[in-house]
Amino acid sequence: MKKLVFATNNDHKLRELKQILPSDFELLSLNDIGCFDDIPETGPTLEVNAAQKSWYIWDKFRMNCFADDTGLEIEALFNEPGVYSARYAGEDRSASANMLKVLDKMAGENNRKARFRCVISLVIDGKEKQFEGIVQGKILGSKQGNDGFGYDPIFLPDGYTLSFAEMPAVEKNRISHRGRAVEKLVEYLKVL
Ligand code: IMP
Repeated sequence: MKKLVFATNNDHKLRELKQILPSDFELLSLNDIGCFDDIPETGPTLEVNAAQKSWYIWDKFRMNCFADDTGLEIEALFNEPGVYSARYAGEDRSASANMLKVLDKMAGENNRKARFRCVISLVIDGKEKQFEGIVQGKILGSKQGNDGFGYDPIFLPDGYTLSFAEMPAVEKNRISHRGRAVEKLVEYLKVL
């Protein structure tokens, strides 16, 4: 069994990945490998941040690893909040405060175009490869739905009438930024 570290302790993401990873891979979390460090995410882009996390694990533990970083990019806000999505309204990372800030800034704006972009950085045997997943959509005028997390209640994916927070999880995972990036990662791991 090939061991692969996912540089996260987010149970939701771990569960999702365990279900779809090829069966010859054993997925380990940061807890599983005894890494309790506050891994720096100080880069100016999603690409740099994802790479910072995966290289941190490779450098310290010499274990094959991947890490993800996601941003909500809103066209009318010049791709804000982007790499700052988690802390848009402050260091306490409050999802409702972040959404309120977006809704406030978008008040009266006609161009509602937005996208989620996810970057995965994979480091295998000291070599890095990145995978990108994008879902296009629109920012709603107010929150819709209670499921999901983060900005889900204010994001309407193109071609759908339900927000990410109103959709069944399987449906969201099928079309989401992370789902698409993970699909590319899995294809790559299958032929490794
Ligand atoms: P992370 O890189 O996955 O930690 O995501 C950064 C921020 O983007 C999170 O704090 C969330 O607010 C937001 N985010 C990431 N993925 C999603 C998603 O699938 N739906 C809604 N918001 C998300």
